[in-house]
Amino acid sequence: MIEENRRLQAIINQNFKIGQLVGHSNALRNILEEVAQVAATNATVLIRGESGTGKEMIASLIHANSQRAGQPFIKVNCAALPEGLVESELFGHERGAFTGAVSGRKGRFEMAHGGTLFLDEVGDMSLSTQAKLLRVIQEKEFERLGGGETLKVDVRILAATNRDLEKMAEDGQFRMDLYYRLSVFPVSLPPLRKRADDIMDLAESFAQKFSPQPSRPIQISSEASRLLMAYEWPGNIRELENYIERAAVLCGPEGVIEERHLPTWLQAQQDDGEPRTLDDSVASLEKRLISEALESTGGHVTQAAAKLGLTERKMSLRMVKYKIDFRTFRSKRQP
Ligand SMILES: Nc1ncnc2c1ncn2[C@@H]1O[C@H](COP(=O)(O)OP(=O)(O)OP(=O)(O)O)[C@@H](O)[C@H]1O
Ligand SMILES: [Mg+2]
Repeated sequence: MIEENRRLQAIINQNFKIGQLVGHSNALRNILEEVAQVAATNATVLIRGESGTGKEMIASLIHANSQRAGQPFIKVNCAALPEGLVESELFGHERGAFTGAVSGRKGRFEMAHGGTLFLDEVGDMSLSTQAKLLRVIQEKEFERLGGGETLKVDVRILAATNRDLEKMAEDGQFRMDLYYRLSVFPVSLPPLRKRADDIMDLAESFAQKFSPQPSRPIQISSEASRLLMAYEWPGNIRELENYIERAAVLCGPEGVIEERHLPTWLQAQQDDGEPRTLDDSVASLEKRLISEALESTGGHVTQAAAKLGLTERKMSLRMVKYKIDFRTFRSKRQP
């Protein structure tokens, strides 16, 4: 065991390129050990974790540390695939395959040939798309839309989701056979609140990233650090990155992020050990649930209201009350 551990550590320290990845928590190190092991193989990896925990980042690290590194890394956002375009998007089409197909086009599988295909948000696919995908994954061959020729591809599959696929499979929303194919090697990214050791590493690296002058990195005051450490981070690393980006603008030429540059609800939720009234606790919970709902919908107020069972009007009133700005939650995710 000890020998094996030493060997792994050596792999991570010396050969494993971690790119822009930041953090030193034990949880993250354990993940990296797993990732370093699986990267070198051709195994399908299912990356799980709440929104904003770094799933996409891990996927690109796996590719970058694999033998396929020099080959294409192609991403498919499964949630954004409109039903009618799925096949053409994944498998491509020949000229004239359908109205508007004025020229032939490669699908994502063909583009990824020799490299890696990253199926992002894999839990958000319709059942019929799941069936189509399963076939290619099993047989490694497919036809372009409107084409008779069967194409063979050599593609490594990585997938990511923030959904509970087991539950979805039980409820008949996710195909069991596809689930087994994808979850050969599951990697679970813990939420940021479970790896507090990484919070300041990340905050400082983002402060540096958003500094107008790289030679003069923006600092974070100890009071502001305390707030960052105390927060629960429902939106995980993306939420942290957004707040630091905003604070980096607000702090101006001083170049120091203070408490007042951080969102107000970060300040309200800290526990100073004083006994709280029921009203305070309810308000703080309400604020947090609203923030979480906004985070999970990428700042979409209508959707977040629906999740919470609120009318849009009530939602808006509460957002005003708690000074919650939906724009802070807009994800940088592409549509
Ligand atoms: N360990 C890390 N070090 C530095 N930056 C990170 C780390 N993990 C994630 N990030 C950054 O945080 C942001 C969110 O990460 P990413 O997009 O990989 O998360 P995700 O799990 O795919 O989120 P979602 O489920 O919302 O798609 C990105 O800007 C990414 O670069
Ligand atoms: Mg993602």
